[in-house]
Amino acid sequence: MVRPMNIFVVSDDFAVPMLITIPPEGIESLKAASCGECHQQIYREWSTSMHAKAWTDPYYQVDLVFDGNQQICLNCHIPLQNQQENLVLGFKDKERFKPILEKNPDFDQELQQEGVTCVVCHLRDGVIIGPYADVEAPHPTRFDPLMTAGIGVCRQCHVVSGKRWDTFFRIPPCGTVSEIRKGQAATIDCNGCHMPKINRPAADDGENRQSSRHLWQGGHDRKTVQKALQADLEIIKKGKSRKANLSLTNIGADHFLPTGTPDRHLTILFSLSEPSGKVFKEKTYTLKRTIMWRPFIVDLWDTRLKKNMPETFSFSWKHDNLLGGSTLTVTVRYHLLDEARRQRIGYRNTAPISYPVFQQTLPLSE
Ligand code: HEC
Ligand code: HEC
Ligand code: HEC
Ligand code: HEC
Ligand code: HEC
Repeated sequence: MVRPMNIFVVSDDFAVPMLITIPPEGIESLKAASCGECHQQIYREWSTSMHAKAWTDPYYQVDLVFDGNQQICLNCHIPLQNQQENLVLGFKDKERFKPILEKNPDFDQELQQEGVTCVVCHLRDGVIIGPYADVEAPHPTRFDPLMTAGIGVCRQCHVVSGKRWDTFFRIPPCGTVSEIRKGQAATIDCNGCHMPKINRPAADDGENRQSSRHLWQGGHDRKTVQKALQADLEIIKKGKSRKANLSLTNIGADHFLPTGTPDRHLTILFSLSEPSGKVFKEKTYTLKRTIMWRPFIVDLWDTRLKKNMPETFSFSWKHDNLLGGSTLTVTVRYHLLDEARRQRIGYRNTAPISYPVFQQTLPLSE
């Protein structure tokens, strides 16, 4: 190897931890619980989100160690300086993969547990930024377009890219939403889908107004994936030949389905069973982004579903080979990661790593 390969470019967006260390005037601490004193509903929603679990998530914890505990991982998963045990004083290399570290005397373990916490998105130069121009709050506030328009505050971690030919040009760390092209970026509204609007008080005891849910549901939420996936199954008969066509369309995500880390994928299983339950014939399709990591990082192919572009998957058999009462079952599953990787990194999951998003069983009487 000519030189060590890094799988992504460290861009300015996340090269170092965020220097947010002092709470805004009028607020006790940087912790989400402080904000929760007055923004209880939002606090509760955030607590259930993957943002709140960006550090404690057991899959992340195992992967972090497997990947050699690199400091760079922390700058998106626990981005605030005092969430991190070490300060980053500079770098030993031009690529910014080898930070010069020194113990952080102000390290706050409780704050660390909060992962992507409120102030990561909401505090800039001592002022709480938000979507409103007209609020009276016990803390300084300011309207900021980062909070409303398009990709806004999400870009920092979700839509980062590197531009070098020999490290991968498009995969940011964790590959998230990397399929979005420059020209397309202006038209995408992350919050429109991931922070749906709701009428309620923005702070407890306030007046109802347009607020937004802080849930950020994605691949961990079956309903979110299901709503975005349209599936139509039909059987075509021609003499003794039978063909099942499953048409899948991404009708609900402006990025690909699935998106996110290259771990995420869909499988389609066609399974013909005899009345006894014995499988007569099966076929599996996998929809994913396939990457060659060495010696160069190259996107080999990408079979994920693009918005509003139906894809058809087929499965054929001869009718007269079948016993009467046989059935065809078609199952589409969403996978957070595949079994081989789970084993390789030694992640002992307590929650399932995949779940069905579509299933239909058809009797094959004729
Ligand atoms: C003592 C109560 C209190 C605390 C604590 C508090 N807020 Fe607020 N906040 C309010 C009130 C009241 C409003 C105004 C709501 C309205 O006008 O409907 C507000 C407004 C906001 C807004 C909207 C600002 C805008 O211009 O759009 C944001 C965002 C916000 N708070 C975030 C936070 C965060 C983050 C924290 C924790 C660091 C926090 N708040 C702590 C009471 C509080
Ligand atoms: C400071 C970095 C950061 C910012 C800013 C950020 N995110 Fe995230 N986001 C993450 C990380 C890290 C995860 C993964 C946590 C995990 O699964 O361990 C994540 C996960 C998610 C998920 C996935 C949920 C799932 O089920 O896997 C969604 C959806 C999401 N973010 C949407 C957004 C949106 C929309 C914005 C902008 C309002 C945003 N994020 C801003 C870091 C960030
Ligand atoms: C990943 C970034 C992110 C995190 C983390 C986050 N917010 Fe927000 N928040 C936003 C965005 C973006 C908006 C504006 C959404 C819109 O108007 O489309 C918003 C809106 C708000 C508002 C205005 C009222 C509303 O509902 O729109 C308040 C208040 C608020 N957030 C408080 C909080 C509190 C409290 C926490 C932590 C418990 C928190 N936020 C965590 C991104 C974030
Ligand atoms: C038109 C609605 C829509 C828009 C706009 C949208 N998303 Fe999504 N997003 C979805 C749906 C539906 C899913 C679940 C299916 C999937 O993974 O594609 C999802 C999933 C995700 C996930 C979860 C991936 C995982 O691994 O679990 C992340 C992260 C995410 N979106 C981030 C973003 C960001 C960042 C933007 C803005 C650049 C954005 N989304 C814009 C609908 C949308
Ligand atoms: C540029 C910001 C960024 C950096 C740096 C980063 N991540 Fe992530 N990570 C994310 C985002 C955003 C997501 C959510 C993507 C998604 O939902 O698919 C995520 C998701 C993950 C997940 C999936 C968790 C789940 O819920 O299934 C793992 C594991 C992970 N990251 C590990 C790492 C490791 C290990 C490193 C360091 C080598 C790292 N990340 C560096 C932003 C980052």
